[in-house]
Amino acid sequence: MKYLLFGTLALLSVGLAVAQSDDDIFHGVSYNDDVTRKFNLDAAGVVEVLTDVRYRAKSQEEARAYYYIVPKVNEENLVSLTAVVATSMNEAQVKRVEASATPADIQKTLKAKNSTDEVAIFKISTKKDESSNGQVTFSIKELYKRRKNPFPSQIKIKEEQSVNFVDSKYYVSLYPTKTQKVTFSHNSPNLIFNTPDGGLVEKKKNLVRYGPYKNVEALSYSEVMLHYKANQPLPIFTEVKKTIEVSHWGNINVDEYYELFNEAAGIKGEFGRVDYQSWDPNRAQYAIKSLETTLPRYIRGLYYWDYIGNISTSNANRDDDHVTFRIEPRFPVFGQWKVDWSQGYNMPTRHHLFQNEAGRFIFNYTFDQDFSDILAENYTLNVILPEGATNLKVHLPFAVDSLDKSLYFSTLDFIGRPQLTIKKANVISSLHKESFQVSYEMSANGLLIEPIFVIAFFFLCFLSAIVYARVDLSFRDDKKVKTQ
Ligand SMILES: *[C@@H]1O[C@H](CO)[C@@H](O)[C@H](O)[C@H]1NC(C)=O
Ligand SMILES: *[C@@H]1O[C@H](CO)[C@@H](O)[C@H](O)[C@H]1NC(C)=O
Ligand SMILES: *[C@@H]1O[C@H](CO)[C@@H](O)[C@H](O)[C@H]1NC(C)=O
Ligand SMILES: *[C@@H]1O[C@H](CO)[C@@H](O)[C@H](O)[C@H]1NC(C)=O
Repeated sequence: MKYLLFGTLALLSVGLAVAQSDDDIFHGVSYNDDVTRKFNLDAAGVVEVLTDVRYRAKSQEEARAYYYIVPKVNEENLVSLTAVVATSMNEAQVKRVEASATPADIQKTLKAKNSTDEVAIFKISTKKDESSNGQVTFSIKELYKRRKNPFPSQIKIKEEQSVNFVDSKYYVSLYPTKTQKVTFSHNSPNLIFNTPDGGLVEKKKNLVRYGPYKNVEALSYSEVMLHYKANQPLPIFTEVKKTIEVSHWGNINVDEYYELFNEAAGIKGEFGRVDYQSWDPNRAQYAIKSLETTLPRYIRGLYYWDYIGNISTSNANRDDDHVTFRIEPRFPVFGQWKVDWSQGYNMPTRHHLFQNEAGRFIFNYTFDQDFSDILAENYTLNVILPEGATNLKVHLPFAVDSLDKSLYFSTLDFIGRPQLTIKKANVISSLHKESFQVSYEMSANGLLIEPIFVIAFFFLCFLSAIVYARVDLSFRDDKKVKTQ
């Protein structure tokens, strides 16, 4: 019964895509000769979409700019979009553009289908020598977050979770496409439903293939749905803050704040702790029961805490290569639940702080957060340098959303420590587990600022204590006068 609705929706949208058998639609326009799309529904923390496009441009000029589109409804879930030219293996430049900045015939296509406001347009630029006879082949890779929807959205604790995934069976393009096909790969033991499509759908063990479709017009869209058992948690960090404090007295302190959300299906009815405990541990596999990470071998003083005592146990094991750190929330984090906590550790500076020949200090550290494979929607990285550091330079391996410099004051700081605050949305280890560097100058005197001020501070304290002891500051007599 519940599929009836989806079936009807899919039927409606098929009407929009008019597949023509003659070659009229390719005459005098640039077109996609062949397109293969692959959806990997099990990439770590995201959905990965690989699109191989063989594009025939009607002019040399058009061969250098391909306009790729993402339906606006999916744009907020887009984590990254990159393109590689197959012949040269060069990464192409990808830039989000407005419809008004596209060539006239593309604007015409958009107007004809009334789709100008429904798509996000990305211009993929290739170099002059990367096409032959106006033909270019590239691979486009997109990563998406939050695209798997638990269905039903609420289940009983003892039930297993299933999810829905929806996309178009046609490659949504500004150009007509001669031949195309699409595969969805899933790791599920049980595919419950997929939108039928006559003889044009093929199912294998962990694959559903649609197509091949021939001669599909520009901007054709037709939704297909996969509904399959996926009894795993869907963890995502809604917020991560990492603060790294560098001291020239030999220590680096790393302090992190995590806010974790489980996108899995919510629980139907009341959550009974007693019920949950009396079940075997294999139940409720869609709940997050623990998280594990590996940290460098040389860390020390590992700690964690949370505001309400939600996290109950943690343990850390050190072996030859690294420290394995595991935390376990007091309650499993069921679907639609949130937990937050802080953790941190110290480490000696020698693994991350160097001085180059010119005498500049270089701090080198990994950009992303510590739990690989879980996407962080809002990531803030703070780097606090020693007091007296000047002439800061930052080298980042990729673009970030913002980078600010400010001064940070803690108890013993007098002139303030230079602080860098870097913000980036949608950070994930598969893209962002890379080193960044901050270089700065620091005179030998800089190192002494803190101790000098500390000494001066204590000296002043003692001085005032001495003065205080010697001078009678009593107001006793005044008070007496008042009360009389
Ligand atoms: C185009 O879209 C607008 C707004 O959604 C609508 O008012 C208009 O009727 C549509 N025109 C066509 C030709 O579909
Ligand atoms: C854990 O903390 C969150 C608040 O961050 C709260 O909403 C939730 O109910 C807590 N979970 C349990 C099981 O106490
Ligand atoms: C930074 O550290 C990483 C990993 O420890 C290392 O591979 C890289 O070469 C270092 N970069 C610099 C500039 O020191
Ligand atoms: C985190 O990111 C999401 C999605 O990008 C956004 O809606 C939300 O407002 C952000 N939260 C914070 C605290 O910045």
